Amino acid sequence: MYFDEIVKDVFQEINLLEGRGEVASYIPELRKVDPEKFGVYLSTIDNSGFGIGDCYEAFSIQSIAKVLSLSLAYRMLGEKIWERLGVEPSGTAFNSLVQLEVENGIPRNPFINAGALVISDILLTKLDHPKEEFLAFIRSLSNNSKINYSPRIATSEKNVGYRNVALCNLIKSFGNIENEPADVLDFYFNLCSLEVNCQELSNLFLFLANDGCTLSGRRVLGQSQAKRVKALMQTCGFYDESGEFSFKVGLPGKSGVGGGIVAVHPKQYAIAVWSPRLNHKGNSYKGMKFLEEFTTKSQLSIF
Ligand code: DON
Repeated sequence: MYFDEIVKDVFQEINLLEGRGEVASYIPELRKVDPEKFGVYLSTIDNSGFGIGDCYEAFSIQSIAKVLSLSLAYRMLGEKIWERLGVEPSGTAFNSLVQLEVENGIPRNPFINAGALVISDILLTKLDHPKEEFLAFIRSLSNNSKINYSPRIATSEKNVGYRNVALCNLIKSFGNIENEPADVLDFYFNLCSLEVNCQELSNLFLFLANDGCTLSGRRVLGQSQAKRVKALMQTCGFYDESGEFSFKVGLPGKSGVGGGIVAVHPKQYAIAVWSPRLNHKGNSYKGMKFLEEFTTKSQLSIF
């Protein structure tokens, strides 16, 4: 594959960098992860793939799951979804409360925690067995029945998730959460706890590279919906570092505090990078560096 050599070269180059930043520590179980892990996997829409480093070791995808919960809710609700949340970058940290108060409980976008809680609420209302059906949706994206939640990580976050509790209650006070906050939070902590490796993660996101269809030809999102989800990744995928990621990498992407980043090149590939040390904005330090170098060397980005 054309990309193999570039992935390998850039991996070796970034691997030599001294690890900067810290592993997320506010979720106790995430503290236990080896900070030096580093893996990359690239999957193409013509069904080839290449991985290197710790690309077959599972990690917690955390906020990356917000793209998948948005996709399922968008599929079920269509454009009505935008009555409950916006599509603007927040320019604030992922767990910020400040805008919600002045914006009447309507989160800026689906990728900040506030927005992901509203999406969780929508799924809770729409699905009869939310956890099981959401997991089945995820598994169906790349025909991978091994993907699972991590009860250990979900419980660990639940025990200390005071900010998310505050966010959910604040949104509820404005009438933009229909279900009991405890149930919404339980669903949300579980979806954040999903564990996959880089290969599985890049395969999960191929449907977005492929205009909303899985490689087996099943339509997950309409073409315009897939475009909009990618547009949100481009503008909101990295919270108050979204401009920086767009500027340096030039692809729609999404990060998680587990140290994962997934990025999509429309009609070409999805790529997943995992390195747990986070910069001060909560995004993987080496993950950002790797993708910046990768799109520079491959001379392919959407801009
Ligand atoms: O709600 C939280 O704080 C975490 N479950 C997810 C945060 C996250 O991954 C932000 N990403 N960069």
